[in-house]
Amino acid sequence: MKTVSLIIDGKEVKASQGEKVLWAALDNGVYIPSLCALSDASAPDASCRLCWVEIKGKSQPVTACTETVEEGMVVNTRGAGALRLARAALELLLASNVVDCVHCPASGSCELQKIAAHLGVKLKTKRFRKILRNLPLDSSSPLFTYDPNRCVLCGRCIWVCRERLGIGALGFAHRGFNRRVTTFGDEPIGEARCEGCGDCVTACPTGALCFKDKPGS
Ligand code: FES
Repeated sequence: MKTVSLIIDGKEVKASQGEKVLWAALDNGVYIPSLCALSDASAPDASCRLCWVEIKGKSQPVTACTETVEEGMVVNTRGAGALRLARAALELLLASNVVDCVHCPASGSCELQKIAAHLGVKLKTKRFRKILRNLPLDSSSPLFTYDPNRCVLCGRCIWVCRERLGIGALGFAHRGFNRRVTTFGDEPIGEARCEGCGDCVTACPTGALCFKDKPGS
């Protein structure tokens, strides 16, 4: 496949023609925060609004997961406008997330912790009023638990289950603040059509889906 050359944060990199800026950056060791993107998804979901970058010649920041690389493109992942938007998106997410790292099995590997450190945002930020959902934990699966209070609604688990595996045990229900990941008919996951492969757990960037016994432990 034809490649293009572009500059990301002052570094010249090569990327396949048609690739999105997000993957070109990550593949070349430049970190851009993201929660909803999956490299094998045919179209970006672009729902988390964390992957803002600035591109020379564009008047506004753009999302790296939707922007296609171009020959000679100059990308800045640390521009003030891009960082401001990413920080606001993260702080809004944190305002409706339980953020209890001490008791979270994903602590240390949670993408929220990594993104907060990258953006210089405190996980216990008070910028927006905290509104928690207080939803019940689902431990009905023999393999994993699902805590909707730790879910960031990135949709990765839904996409993996439906598009990659063709099962479709999970989906979004409701809108706005009440939006959440659930099963058809809102059944406990262990009673739904889940086949227990655990790929949704692996795809989860936070502690919302966690193995009961970590593989290899
Ligand atoms: S990764 Fe771009 S909007 Fe989520």
